[in-house]
Amino acid sequence: MSEVHVLGHPLIAHKLTQMRDKNTSSADFRRLLKEISLLMSYEVTRDFETKTVAIETPVCPGEFPRLKNDFFTIVPILRAGLGLVDGLLELLPEAHVGHIGLARDERTHEPVEYYYKMPPGVENSLIILVDPMLATGGSAVDAINNLKARGCKNIRMVNLVAAPEGIKVMQEQHPDVDIYVASIDEYLNDAAYIVPGLGDAGDRIFGTI
Ligand code: URA
Repeated sequence: MSEVHVLGHPLIAHKLTQMRDKNTSSADFRRLLKEISLLMSYEVTRDFETKTVAIETPVCPGEFPRLKNDFFTIVPILRAGLGLVDGLLELLPEAHVGHIGLARDERTHEPVEYYYKMPPGVENSLIILVDPMLATGGSAVDAINNLKARGCKNIRMVNLVAAPEGIKVMQEQHPDVDIYVASIDEYLNDAAYIVPGLGDAGDRIFGTI
């Protein structure tokens, strides 16, 4: 069973409340999302292993820790996932960014991948899949299915707000993928919006309301 990490830092909670407010502008919404993703990246990377390397400081030689593995790929699910990329990149500047775009065929209801671009060798990389809202879990499950079909094994997922329904689906379908989330909200309404939530994250990020 995957672990669900709820990142209850007061600064994250404070900024998320501002994002929930319907009167917050797109400019502020984007800035807050970037700030929260930067704060979340601290927890998402907490278990990263280090190795000891020999270097010389201006004062003396010594042995110090560095990251053992520095092949990370941040993968936003288009389009709202883009809002989480800059904050993560700020702390992980050497990370690659892959993109995945999924839409549901209106006739068959099957997921259709309309965009997929990953760095070479992505199957050997740690993948940080990002999407602000984990609602039904449908897109996240489909994105991970598609990544795993290309050989990716080491995946973790970062969301801002999740519904209990989405977490359940993810844990059933992908029990190997840990979830990092700022808040688990109450429920999904009939229109598949998270309640209380913050509305349509993509529309609020890109000002398409
Ligand atoms: N996607 C969103 O952007 N918001 C929700 O509440 C649910 C899905």
